Amino acid sequence: MASLPTIAILISGSGSNLQALIDATQSGKLRANIVVVGSNRKAAYGLERANKAGIPTRTFSLKQFKDQGKTRVDFDIYVAKTIQEEYKPDLVVLAGFMHILSPEFLSFFPQNNVMNLHPALPGQFDGAHAIERAYDAFKKGDIQHTGVMVHKVIADVDRGQVILQRNIPIEKDDTLEDLEKRIHSVEHEIIVEGAQKFLDELTASE
Ligand code: GRF
Repeated sequence: MASLPTIAILISGSGSNLQALIDATQSGKLRANIVVVGSNRKAAYGLERANKAGIPTRTFSLKQFKDQGKTRVDFDIYVAKTIQEEYKPDLVVLAGFMHILSPEFLSFFPQNNVMNLHPALPGQFDGAHAIERAYDAFKKGDIQHTGVMVHKVIADVDRGQVILQRNIPIEKDDTLEDLEKRIHSVEHEIIVEGAQKFLDELTASE
């Protein structure tokens, strides 16, 4: 039995997307093993989720690096080196990882096997608070719907090759919470489908 492909996941928050990936590997929907969960927030609830699932965790503190007079790039290199050299994952998934990665980080992953989830359509609301910005744009009549995508990570934030995307309707009487809920439920599906698609393409290209 060939060993399953391996995934490293980076988080910063509650980890509901991480949980979707954990559940999918346990149900067999996602044919892969999660070998490590890393977080740049030691208080991230997602670390609890990883512990409960028996997945090794690592925390990375940018503050610690800065307190030692080191730079953001030093931090990125340390994170990338740790993930790549200690775990050698087939795929790195950024699941709500609120940290912009430098080219130096990406240089450790020449196969471009880093995938990000972003709660907007390509080129629409790059960067933070994408859901809120889409909601405001809808209220102003600028857009009729929004969406979610998973894409390969490059240095330009939220701009890499799209792996999967899904349109999401906005109803006229939606509150921001209604839209957030709808987007998060689609995220939990697309992050699993996107990871599987990425790994299928990886093994097909070998
Ligand atoms: C998700 O909406 C993700 O797209 C965004 O931050 C949120 C993370 O949620 N970048 P969780 O930590 O996976 O619950």
